[in-house]
Amino acid sequence: MRVDSRREGPIITLDGPAGSGKSSTAKAVAKRLGFRHLDSGALYRALTLGLLRSSVVEADWESLSEQGFTNLDINLETSKNGFQVLIGGEAVDSELRTPGVTDRVSFVASLPASRQSILGLQRKAGEDGGLVADGRDMGTVVFPHAELKIYLIADLEERAMRRLRQIGQDCSDDFELARQASALNTRDQSDSQRTISPLKKASGAIELDTTGLAFEEQVQAIVDLAHRLTLL
Ligand code: CDP
Repeated sequence: MRVDSRREGPIITLDGPAGSGKSSTAKAVAKRLGFRHLDSGALYRALTLGLLRSSVVEADWESLSEQGFTNLDINLETSKNGFQVLIGGEAVDSELRTPGVTDRVSFVASLPASRQSILGLQRKAGEDGGLVADGRDMGTVVFPHAELKIYLIADLEERAMRRLRQIGQDCSDDFELARQASALNTRDQSDSQRTISPLKKASGAIELDTTGLAFEEQVQAIVDLAHRLTLL
């Protein structure tokens, strides 16, 4: 799709492994450009939280139909800078990042029916453009015609350190660091080895290694790319 066919500007996608800084970077890039930010991981987290709150026992999640996931009533409400995730009409935020959700989200995201149930929501969020979307399959499946695709990577140890800092834990504790790195690695394996919409670099995506880059530098690098491609 050509840029001039989108009313509010281009679509920029950021995909990459867990803890590579996608969401915070996407949010900051969107703010700099006056675009909306879509955090697609929050939708998979909402499906997982919705299931945990439901009466469906965990052993049955795998056999749920697309309608079963749709019944969880996950929605997106447009807010000033992005989208608020709703479950049954109620806003959810911090609960999406609890360990109970994080430990199960990659399994839920590996189920074709779960992915299908929120595909339309994500595409609708981008129908007018002016969007920075982050996740695992933004450039490959959800927005294959995005004008700029970024694949964000960083060393596992650096990602583990960032994650510990983000949750306010001591990143000089070697035991915690190793534990966090192992948890991120397990999720990466699951995300890149699944058959449906695996985590991979989209064709035409620009790889940006953020190891050793300061946050502002990685935001600037993407804003510069958008300018260089004369998308803005
Ligand atoms: O912030 P972090 O990278 O740790 O995770 P997230 O973006 O909140 O995504 C949580 C999980 O949702 C990922 O580990 C994937 O299993 C899944 N996900 C996905 O499958 N496809 C997406 N587009 C986004 C997230």
